[in-house]
Amino acid sequence: MWSSMLLAACLLATQWSEGANPPADRLASAFVDPLERVDCGPEPNVSADTCTARGCIWGPTSTPADQGVPWCYFPRQTGYFVSPDDASVWKKSPSSPPNPFGSDAPTIRFKQTALGAGVRLTIDTEGSFVPDIPLNLSPTIQSDEQLVVRVRNTTVASFSVERASSGLRIFDTSIGGLLFGDKYIQLSTFIPAKNIFGFGEHIHQTIRHDLSGYRTWPMFARDKAPNSADGRTENLYGVHNFYVAIEDDGKAHGVFLLNSNAQEVVTGPGPHLTYRAIGGRFDFFFLPGPTPAQVVQQYQQIIGRPYLPAYWALGYQFCRWGYASLDDLKATIGRIQNAQIPLDVVFADIDYMERYKDFTTGSANWSAFAAYADDLHQKEMKVTLIFDPAVQVDYDSFQRAVDQNANFISWPAAAYVDHEIQDEYPLAKDTNFMLSVVWPDKHVAFPDFYDDTNQTADWWVGEFDLYHKSMAFDGIWIDMNEPSSFGTNKEHCCGGILDHPDIKSLHCPLTGDDAVWEYPPYMTWSAYHYGDVPLSEDTVCMIGVVNRGKQRVFDTKSLYGLRETISTARAMKEVLGKRGQLISRSTFASSGHYGGHWLGDNNARWEDLRTAIIGAQEFNIFGIPHVGSDVCGFDGDTNEELCLRWQQLGAFHSFFRNHNIIGAIPQDPSQWNSVAQATRTANLWRYRHLPYLYSLHFAASKEGGTVIRPVAFEFPRDRRAFDLSYQFMWGPAVMVIPVTDENVDTVDGYLPEEAAWFALYGSRYGVQAAAGDGTFEAPRNSSAPAFVRAGHVLPRQVPALTTAAARRQHFQLLIACDETRTATGRLFWDDGERLIDETQWTSAQAYRFEFAFAYTAAGATLNISMLESPQPRLTLPPVEEVEVLGYAAAPAFQSATVNGAPAQLSASESSYSGITRVLRLRRSDRGFVQLDDHLPLWTVQWNNV
Ligand SMILES: *[C@@H]1O[C@H](CO)[C@@H](O)[C@H](O)[C@H]1NC(C)=O
Ligand SMILES: *[C@@H]1O[C@H](CO)[C@@H](O)[C@H](O)[C@H]1NC(C)=O
Ligand SMILES: *[C@@H]1O[C@H](CO)[C@@H](O)[C@H](O)[C@H]1NC(C)=O
Ligand SMILES: *[C@@H]1O[C@H](CO)[C@@H](O)[C@H](O)[C@H]1NC(C)=O
Ligand SMILES: *[C@@H]1O[C@H](CO)[C@@H](O)[C@H](O)[C@H]1NC(C)=O
Repeated sequence: MWSSMLLAACLLATQWSEGANPPADRLASAFVDPLERVDCGPEPNVSADTCTARGCIWGPTSTPADQGVPWCYFPRQTGYFVSPDDASVWKKSPSSPPNPFGSDAPTIRFKQTALGAGVRLTIDTEGSFVPDIPLNLSPTIQSDEQLVVRVRNTTVASFSVERASSGLRIFDTSIGGLLFGDKYIQLSTFIPAKNIFGFGEHIHQTIRHDLSGYRTWPMFARDKAPNSADGRTENLYGVHNFYVAIEDDGKAHGVFLLNSNAQEVVTGPGPHLTYRAIGGRFDFFFLPGPTPAQVVQQYQQIIGRPYLPAYWALGYQFCRWGYASLDDLKATIGRIQNAQIPLDVVFADIDYMERYKDFTTGSANWSAFAAYADDLHQKEMKVTLIFDPAVQVDYDSFQRAVDQNANFISWPAAAYVDHEIQDEYPLAKDTNFMLSVVWPDKHVAFPDFYDDTNQTADWWVGEFDLYHKSMAFDGIWIDMNEPSSFGTNKEHCCGGILDHPDIKSLHCPLTGDDAVWEYPPYMTWSAYHYGDVPLSEDTVCMIGVVNRGKQRVFDTKSLYGLRETISTARAMKEVLGKRGQLISRSTFASSGHYGGHWLGDNNARWEDLRTAIIGAQEFNIFGIPHVGSDVCGFDGDTNEELCLRWQQLGAFHSFFRNHNIIGAIPQDPSQWNSVAQATRTANLWRYRHLPYLYSLHFAASKEGGTVIRPVAFEFPRDRRAFDLSYQFMWGPAVMVIPVTDENVDTVDGYLPEEAAWFALYGSRYGVQAAAGDGTFEAPRNSSAPAFVRAGHVLPRQVPALTTAAARRQHFQLLIACDETRTATGRLFWDDGERLIDETQWTSAQAYRFEFAFAYTAAGATLNISMLESPQPRLTLPPVEEVEVLGYAAAPAFQSATVNGAPAQLSASESSYSGITRVLRLRRSDRGFVQLDDHLPLWTVQWNNV
């Protein structure tokens, strides 16, 4: 498991044996193995002189530069010791070098709290910033595995979090380097394995982190288009300081750091991690698993289980930015429908607004939009609109905000107001609101979604309510909520920004005492990546205040998207009175409880298709399963083949939307016959399997968990699974191996050997595929390569062109069997849009069916149990087909019964092949299991010949 890098390191250092636990004598020497260093010069261009002046060790190595070994590093004896009279008080060790970025707190508090089988560790000082977001910080974690904390008080103290069962240290800070200053906190830890998944939001080239060298992953919400080129580590729109680790024996654990300041994690080859933040405190949650699925569920006990989108939100969605008019939009949607492509949701980007002002409809070319929305509703289709947080400060919506005493991100005092801007706007003139520039032509203010008086949220909800009365949208898309701001600190906002007057931009204090908010002693790589820029680059000023002056932007900026999502989820619930979809660009831990996410402004390139596969898996780990990428690519012109393969891939992502940028060529699938055909096929496949996808979402909302997940999360003892970045599981039962390269007709993949698999696509549909490495056909005219795992029953339905129509079609059951000859599965079913009462998950809010199938040489039994049913009852379509894959016996169709009575099968539609082992019992005209009878149990049986 050690990389070849160790060989290089051996020239310089003693070789340590494999494993995370350092021998005691390792602490004795000042020299630190290049693989286990804590960087003392994390900012760019630290010299030997600076290094030694910091009390650190200068130790150049000959390891390759791309491994990023720090040449300036902290001695191991950096940190605090445990106070003799109070174990919860730690004191700065006299042997420790000082904090290079501001002075260290002389004492810190070390507090551990048991969370059932998990543990929370808080390291802080009186007055450390604490993020104010609704989480459950004292969940009772249930697990077979107990975590315990052990503190070691050597020259400097360290702690470890261990599995009580084995003593395995999942976290071990004896690597040294604990610092705790006002604007720089740092903690390092050994980790027990190199298999870690998570940390976001970034582009990651592999689903499992590459720990062969040192990599710094900054986290600070930023309006930054993802760049999928190799080696990029920039922080993107959201912040998720959470990872799941799979240990060498296949057990998994999770670690969540709750901190909202600009922060970063260094992944290192020790294997080890270094956490840095420029404010706040260390508030760690350790989750014992031991399965990866349990880790995610335990995490969601803290951050909240995922919201349940409306059923239609799992349908196909189409958007573009740059429609010249409503007629242009209508023509595009018409083309997709003429191509008989299943489609549910029509999106409008900012084009639809009157000069980009929220809650308005463009008067020139969009006046008939509301009538068109009504037409779409007649066709059982839905509309989702974009809304930006920033509102122009001189129109009705802002007038009402002022009248209702809503608050906006503000300057800390009147003296900071730029009157050259402010005085132009009578409504803003006498306020301290921090005016800036986004899409609208004039200056804007940013609603203070932290306002705990509720007046801002009430106004915001009211605006959606008013607008909905004139334009009946069904879903809400919130963008630009990092928050993004144009041209901050530049003379003018908008040189080069399309269709925008070049007005004066926001200027933050960059000199004098106030500059500390923009240029703190350590900036993090969220700034260093861009050279000498302040933290307010592309956003609002860090000195700004929220919650009516109670908190600073510096501490809370990364929470803005989450806070907006919370207020907007309230709007969606109150205005629609039913479920819809809510998609946010900026997210934080717990955003998934309120809405979904798309992966942002990607590019129409193959590498972006590839990294989208990783991104969707990661956001499931982050508790945001309603996620997907801009299919065919957002920026730049797509091409036929890329768009085709992306449509095939996107059909497996929960949020499935094609979207691109103004100025790029149209990319609706009907632009190319081949893409239209592939999309039709892939979408029909998806719509057929929506009952399964919906059940996965329902289960995630009710019980916690993921929808899409890494293969390693289902097969944590199969080492081959760890490096499958471009394959993923759709729930426990379906493996997807999409095409990720140009100009191929096959795809190489790996089917874990501990299961049996059957193809669910193409010419080999239903046939068992050999486990292990394989090369699979990947036709352009079918859905993406997908395989069902033996032992599972999937509910599905005859597809149709909208989800509403598909929901009325007959059910079908797909059963996959191996030698054990058994399979199970389940279906959650409701009307797809009624509000869920989160406090009532224990009572029946939906139908819950469980399927259990088993057969012997003599015959087969399928039990369909209705374990929960809601009031009032719904009309339930019948089951028209039971398809069994891997059925190794010849059935006697005439012997089939349902609850003892002869099953009314169609002889011409039912079939069995001893070669393919595909068995089909079918009656398509009226089905043969009448679920609408609302029985507790249906037993379908047949004999074999
Ligand atoms: C660091 O040094 C490199 C190369 O000398 C230079 O290009 C870069 O601008 C420097 N970075 C900073 C932040 O000073
Ligand atoms: C921890 O170590 C320090 C320094 O050696 C010592 O002063 C202190 O008493 C120790 N604390 C405890 C609780 O043993
Ligand atoms: C309205 O549509 C026409 C024709 O498509 C286009 O030329 C014009 O620029 C549009 N006007 C606006 C305000 O977008
Ligand atoms: C704000 O609204 C929340 C949720 O509706 C409520 O619990 C809280 O008491 C309200 N706060 C104030 C100050 O009215
Ligand atoms: C897909 O293309 C292949 C090869 O051209 C052809 O044999 C097959 O019939 C096509 N399948 C469908 C469903 O059109």
